[in-house]
Amino acid sequence: MAATRAAPVVGKQAAGASARASEQATTQAGAGLALASRLPDFPWDVLEPASRTARAHPGGIVDLSMGSPVDPVPELVRDALAAAANSPGYPLTKGTGQLRAAAADWLGRRHGVVISADAVLPVIGTKEFIAGLPTLLGCGPADVVCFPELAYPTYDVGARLAGARPISTDEPDLLGPDAGSIALAWVNSPSNPTGRVLSPTRLRDLVAWARGAGAVLASDECYIDLGYEATPVSVLHPDVCGGSHSGLLAVYSLSKRSNLAGYRAGFVTGDPSLVAELLEVRKHAGMMVPAPVQAAMAAALSDDAHAQEQRARYAGRRARLRPALEAAGWAVHDSEAGLYLWAARPGMDGWTSVGWLADAGILVAPGEFYGPAGSEHVRIALTATDERIDAAAARLADPR
Ligand SMILES: Cc1ncc(COP(=O)(O)O)c(C=O)c1O
Repeated sequence: MAATRAAPVVGKQAAGASARASEQATTQAGAGLALASRLPDFPWDVLEPASRTARAHPGGIVDLSMGSPVDPVPELVRDALAAAANSPGYPLTKGTGQLRAAAADWLGRRHGVVISADAVLPVIGTKEFIAGLPTLLGCGPADVVCFPELAYPTYDVGARLAGARPISTDEPDLLGPDAGSIALAWVNSPSNPTGRVLSPTRLRDLVAWARGAGAVLASDECYIDLGYEATPVSVLHPDVCGGSHSGLLAVYSLSKRSNLAGYRAGFVTGDPSLVAELLEVRKHAGMMVPAPVQAAMAAALSDDAHAQEQRARYAGRRARLRPALEAAGWAVHDSEAGLYLWAARPGMDGWTSVGWLADAGILVAPGEFYGPAGSEHVRIALTATDERIDAAAARLADPR
């Protein structure tokens, strides 16, 4: 069967087209074929020509495209991984007591969130969890999965893998009955790609809406430790959820906080009954975090000094890059927190801006990767060494 690629979903008006794509995908899957045909093209492949141009720059590429950490894994985390290297038995899907306690302590200590250690479930990197959540919750063609209009693409991918109907909107609470039955809505604050932070009031409204609608509200909080001009707040904070975690999930990654993208380390917590259901399915499916990684996660979550150091590195890079962009005529929007600058060059669309920067040896992501509403922007990651960030700033001042 020829694989037909599904187009990304655009706002509320695209819900019908999306539903048709879903139906088609469901039929194909029903025939037992081509799950990949439900998915859009892998976006990073499309960036290869710009990457080639940037790599050819005589001063070398400054790669600000992916958001992949470049700073070292903290020594205390490496030590914990090495100390647990002799792990011949299967690890616990629910995580060691040490890991679950460290996660609960961290949330209480740093974010004012009180959870039971029993409500912590480790995941093999949060991308895996995000892509799988609609399936693990049993979503299907009768269900809608919502995610922000400008968003990390894996929310959409997760909906499609489950055969559910993806709708991209910042206002799931305004969709109305025509949208269908919303099973799951994602929020992401601070946002990838925009760096926008949702206020406690907005989060509170979304919690109230989700509870009324019977939807699970899942909050991807992987950048919660990287606030600069705004203080991100968790959906599980009592000021937001009223002290009850019913219907809520919050997802945390150690990739950016602790430079552990290579370890694949994250966890989910929230509504104890939802977490218990997810644990049950994950146990059957063998979705276990390796034991040495669990030990490394426990060490990382028990230490705040390395995370504060890492945050300071990103703050320094941001403080050099943002004014360099603005001095060169770029407008930086949102970008209050997180790992990215969300920038536009007046009179240029996003792809033209990608080309302009690639000519200067700087590789960035086109805003369109995150939804059609991003077509005028580029996303610039702060994940490069200080030396490379300085090279980018110098090239912006003198792009020849
Ligand atoms: C918003 C968001 N969520 C989740 C992830 C996945 O992180 P990981 O799979 O490394 O935990 C990323 C990665 O960049 C992200 O930007």
